[in-house]
Amino acid sequence: MTFENTRAFAQQLDASDELRKYRDEFIFPQVNGKQVIYFTGNSLGLQPKRTKAYVDEIMNDWATLAVEGHFYADKPWWDYQERFAGPLSGIVGAKPSEVTVMNTLTVNLHLLMVSFYRPSAKKYKIICEEKAFPSDQYMLQSQVHFHGFEAKDAIVEVKRREGEHNIRLEDILAKIDEVGDELALVLMGGVNYYTGQVFDMKTITEAGHKYGAYVGFDLAHAAGNIKLELHDWGVDFAAWCSYKYMNSGPGNVSGIFVHEAHHNDTDLSRFAGWWGHNKERRFLMEPKFDPVRGAEGWQVSNLPVISLAPYLASVEMFAEVGMDKLIKKRDLITAYLEFILHEIDKEIDGTEFEIITPSNKEERACQLSVFLHGQGRALFDYLMKNGVITDWREPNVIRLAPAPFYCSFEDMYEFGQILKKGILKE
Ligand SMILES: Cc1ncc(COP(=O)(O)O)c(C=O)c1O
Repeated sequence: MTFENTRAFAQQLDASDELRKYRDEFIFPQVNGKQVIYFTGNSLGLQPKRTKAYVDEIMNDWATLAVEGHFYADKPWWDYQERFAGPLSGIVGAKPSEVTVMNTLTVNLHLLMVSFYRPSAKKYKIICEEKAFPSDQYMLQSQVHFHGFEAKDAIVEVKRREGEHNIRLEDILAKIDEVGDELALVLMGGVNYYTGQVFDMKTITEAGHKYGAYVGFDLAHAAGNIKLELHDWGVDFAAWCSYKYMNSGPGNVSGIFVHEAHHNDTDLSRFAGWWGHNKERRFLMEPKFDPVRGAEGWQVSNLPVISLAPYLASVEMFAEVGMDKLIKKRDLITAYLEFILHEIDKEIDGTEFEIITPSNKEERACQLSVFLHGQGRALFDYLMKNGVITDWREPNVIRLAPAPFYCSFEDMYEFGQILKKGILKE
């Protein structure tokens, strides 16, 4: 398709957008009396209008049924999490038994490390990407210390090449071969939070397995954003948060995936709690732990149902639309945003910014990370003041994620106009 940097062309794209009715399903903040252009769905997704009814339902059940709500609410609380298995497994490419919802992301990664990082003197190294999200770095460091290793020996980062912004797959595979039999675990982001680079999880998983290592992914920036086939790829475990592309609300509950290959291994070490215990016998209050044979066997506590309610609203909305349609629009709107950025760069006659996200479609999804040369924070502040909600990452990067559920093509055009004014200081 030949794009044009005009409002009429953007409106034409909106008119033929099969997801356009969903834009009205979200609540947009206002700046200067106008609905914002929201680019931070990769950080905190917008609130869907239908979410409140899901939360109200729990509040009403609590008011009218109190403790009886656990069993007699329309959606009983004791097995509320089971409602996620169908829709969520479709979103991440899993079997329903391989996914569940619980805790928050970093907590879940720690819990999964209990099962999937069991180092020995000879096999103790972890491969991760350079500049992984800080919480993952702290999590990995504390895990290796906990097992009596030094982070500098046990954690092996795959680096970017000099002058490059992204990590090459060939370098990840070479590092896996280099570490070889000492490799205990590969744990990486599925999509890098800073650059938006999508990693080839299938190939990385196969490579890690060649050396008998477990392979897991932090899917914070992948869930609800890219096509995942976690079961078929043979990924051992994964976890993600629900508040970014999945629009479930600030700091909300995480999802996990555990491959069915591990479900019957009841000797696998884990930190247990009563919500991971055999469902039929949970309330018999027996002393011996008998894990559910599925991802739910990693549950610990009874669930924060008030928090799960917005997440349920979200996964049902995803199931209604399906990842394929979201990805189709995602690719078009991201390509249009890329075009607009290049057009504005030409119009202002200078290289003011550089897109550091890979340009190849296989390696990118919704996010474009833009390095601002010479402009920096003042331009970011201008955008924010003028109703473009984006975020700033040191040293000089703004991240733009046109979430396909609620961003419009006209937003992209309008953003280009505001950006141009901000650069030319008109
Ligand atoms: C890639 C990645 N990993 C981990 C986290 C931490 O998530 P939480 O604070 O929910 O544990 C984030 C949060 O933004 C993230 O982007």
